[in-house]
Amino acid sequence: MIDKGRDAEAPRSALLDVLGRKRAQRRPVWFMRQAGRYLPEYRAVREKAGSFLDLCYNPDLAAEVTLQPLRRYDLDAAILFADILVVPHAMGLSLHFAEGEGPILTTVRSMAEVEALKPVAGTHEVIQVCRTVRLTRDALSSHLALIGFCGAPWTVASYMVAGGSSDRVMAKIAAYQRQPWFCALIDRLVNESIDYLAAQADAGAQAVQIFDSWAGDLTGTELEDFVLRPITQIVAGLKKRHPELPVIVFARGIGSAQRRAAAIPGANAIGLETEFDLSELPDGIVAQGNLDPVALLAGGEVVEAEVRRICGSIDPQRHIFNLGHGIRQGTDPAVVGAAVDAIRRCDG
Ligand code: CP3
Repeated sequence: MIDKGRDAEAPRSALLDVLGRKRAQRRPVWFMRQAGRYLPEYRAVREKAGSFLDLCYNPDLAAEVTLQPLRRYDLDAAILFADILVVPHAMGLSLHFAEGEGPILTTVRSMAEVEALKPVAGTHEVIQVCRTVRLTRDALSSHLALIGFCGAPWTVASYMVAGGSSDRVMAKIAAYQRQPWFCALIDRLVNESIDYLAAQADAGAQAVQIFDSWAGDLTGTELEDFVLRPITQIVAGLKKRHPELPVIVFARGIGSAQRRAAAIPGANAIGLETEFDLSELPDGIVAQGNLDPVALLAGGEVVEAEVRRICGSIDPQRHIFNLGHGIRQGTDPAVVGAAVDAIRRCDG
């Protein structure tokens, strides 16, 4: 049981309190990609598992790597260890992570290929991920929240159309041209994401984050139709089944349109990219972010100054401390610990 930094009379989760707009005991902190290759203990388990995907579908080992960062640092939440590409994999595409190169998957570029995609509910992939959720939740004490996640339709579709690493040009052309097969793909991903997130919540996820890492590729009506509308539909569908489940919307890189993301009915918080100035956030919005992951590579004094600037620009009751994007490979684990300590000092 992981129970760090808090006493027995304080069982509430600061993350869930901020998301629920209740008085939190402290500013919650977690980091995107907090489990991963920068940690030697992750590399050891990853080697034991074989491949990255073998690790994702091995509930004991995936739960173990989900918990690793909470053993090292005084964080407020664990994020399920899996990947956004579990959904296309469960839909029947072949998926492979080439060492040092990123994902390779079968392409989807026609209506026939969209129609051949399977529903994710009840697939081996989703069952294994949900087992990881259950094992992880059982190992966490009540003040630590477990976050589930999925990729947003635009970002996931961009990988499906390209067949792998993130060249979004082909997906963007299909979006501009309003190709019927592309619109159908987005709609399918909306429905599958609802089922996938609902299954994670059934298994014990207490909040979920929707990752639209490439949202910043689109503007205007394309941003509306392929980023904001699909996310709005996912949140609505999910809340029908899990009305109390908090949702964090991370539409990375959309700048001033973050206000529109914040206005999505049922969105409890928005994740903000590093470039967004937190002091310009309108009142009443709960925000997550947005330390530059590169600051963690720059080291101690930079981290200290950036943490102070961010903590000083937003009320801890409406802020979830995080990065503007995931922890980079090669980050010194000690610097991550120094960042957490600096956050605690700022508010203490
Ligand atoms: O945040 C966490 O700690 C939870 C686990 C998690 C992973 N990927 C593990 C992972 C989460 C939430 C993701 C999300 C994800 N995956 C996103 C959205 C967030 C973002 O980073 O923009 C995207 C775009 C992906 C797709 C993906 N997965 C790519 C492009 C790659 C290869 C590039 C890379 O960083 O290696 C992955 C692999 C991946 N996902 C790793 C991890 C820990 C590295 C795999 C390894 O061990 O070799």
